[in-house]
Amino acid sequence: MYTNFHKMMEDAYREHYAVGSFNWYHYETLKGIIEAGEETGRPVIASFGAKYLTNIDLDTAAALTKVLADRSCGAVCLHLDHCKDKDAIIRAIRAGFGSVMYDGSSLPFEQNLENTREICEIAHACDVSVEAELGSLAAGAKSHEGSADDREVYTDPAMAAEFVRETKVDALAVSIGTVHGMYKGTPNIRTDILEKINAAVGSPLVLHGGSGTPEDKLLACISRGIAKINVNTEISEYVMAHTKALLQEQSPHLSVLALKQKEWVKEVVKKYIELFCNRA
Ligand code: 13P
Repeated sequence: MYTNFHKMMEDAYREHYAVGSFNWYHYETLKGIIEAGEETGRPVIASFGAKYLTNIDLDTAAALTKVLADRSCGAVCLHLDHCKDKDAIIRAIRAGFGSVMYDGSSLPFEQNLENTREICEIAHACDVSVEAELGSLAAGAKSHEGSADDREVYTDPAMAAEFVRETKVDALAVSIGTVHGMYKGTPNIRTDILEKINAAVGSPLVLHGGSGTPEDKLLACISRGIAKINVNTEISEYVMAHTKALLQEQSPHLSVLALKQKEWVKEVVKKYIELFCNRA
């Protein structure tokens, strides 16, 4: 069933678990994510990145997700990931997305706040939720988000509290040392900063850059206010590694390969869903 993002976030924040937000780009990734949620009995966020608009347009993404979600007994939210373009956000709201991420993280604080507030007013009037970001993640290896020269800027707790209060955003993405893509060195996840942000904000927080983050660190983040964790690169890496291994031995029909890829998506997504409902 198609489910409301705001309620998903509030439930997760209150009960100290995180909802997995998994990026999808085609039918097999979407189907694997939805089946993983259904088979584990946990809610999932099917996260469609604005950068994948060349793969699928917003109306098709929404229609496809709605059909699959309505047939599933699991809770599914369709989310627009990392979007800087207000027009695209409005098109996603019209298309039926359950939540949108306005990414003004590269803008000065006041401009990010003002733009996010405007997006929240529009989206909330249509019963659509909003995620925004304060601070900035560095680019890791094989990152498929942002740009290669992205630098780390930690989220400031006091600014985060002001930002959430003024914008009424449903969930805030924070920067505490995770990277988009795989880590180039040893991860340094600043749970001390997260603890301060959580104490100041007191509402659902989002962790981007889930791929490759040590499991104990993810659990420590969940117990400090993280209610949504994004995973992208690792899904692609896992499926491509299995695809390469299979193609070295066999030359299957594309339809057979597609079914196998859906299963591999499901395996990696299930691993994270099960982790995210553990307690630290
Ligand atoms: P990873 O690719 O590092 O998992 O990050 C995904 C993400 O944050 C999507 O917004």
